[in-house]
Amino acid sequence: MSVTVRQACREDLPDIIAIEEASFSVPWSHQSLAAELDNPVARYYILEKEDGSVAGYADVWLIADEGQLAFIAIHPSARGLGYGEILLRTAMEALFREGCTSFFLEVRQSNAPAQGLYRKLGYEALAVRKDYYSQPVEDACIMHCQKEKYQWLGHSL
Ligand SMILES: CC(C)(COP(=O)(O)OP(=O)(O)OC[C@H]1O[C@@H](n2cnc3c(N)ncnc32)[C@H](O)[C@@H]1OP(=O)(O)O)[C@@H](O)C(=O)NCCC(=O)NCCS
Repeated sequence: MSVTVRQACREDLPDIIAIEEASFSVPWSHQSLAAELDNPVARYYILEKEDGSVAGYADVWLIADEGQLAFIAIHPSARGLGYGEILLRTAMEALFREGCTSFFLEVRQSNAPAQGLYRKLGYEALAVRKDYYSQPVEDACIMHCQKEKYQWLGHSL
């Protein structure tokens, strides 16, 4: 099935909130998810299926030449189909073209699917933030991806 990645808008918020709440033990609040639409450093993307339904979203920030993955989630029923990779690659490549030279993110130590995706796109573990997450308490792994590493892996911009 072909999919489209586009900018998020206010009408997407009910779908974003539903996926967020199905994906995280401590979801971002409705207000925080909505506020990202007006955040000047944020680039907020939606992955839409052919039938028009929202399968996932991602939000990345560009601060000076540094990118940060704020959040990404795919609907539980649509995982493992390559959508997360399409979404994150689209978001990263747009920022690289805007002058971003590297990306940072935090991820739960136990989140193997997300870490698998990040490693595939060139991220490497940089440091551990002890007890960073709650419900359950868990360390965060800080991961970093250089633009050169991303390209070296064969991903074009
Ligand atoms: C992390 C997430 C966004 C991945 O999205 P997805 O659409 O399921 O992932 P994709 O199908 O695009 O997979 C891309 C790559 O990720 C890795 N991956 C995906 N699912 C995996 C799993 N269950 N175990 C290990 N690696 C996995 C693989 O490297 C995969 O590449 P491959 O298919 O060539 O092996 C999705 O699992 C999700 O929404 N999780 C809940 C929210 C979340 O944890 N967000 C990240 C917070 S830091």
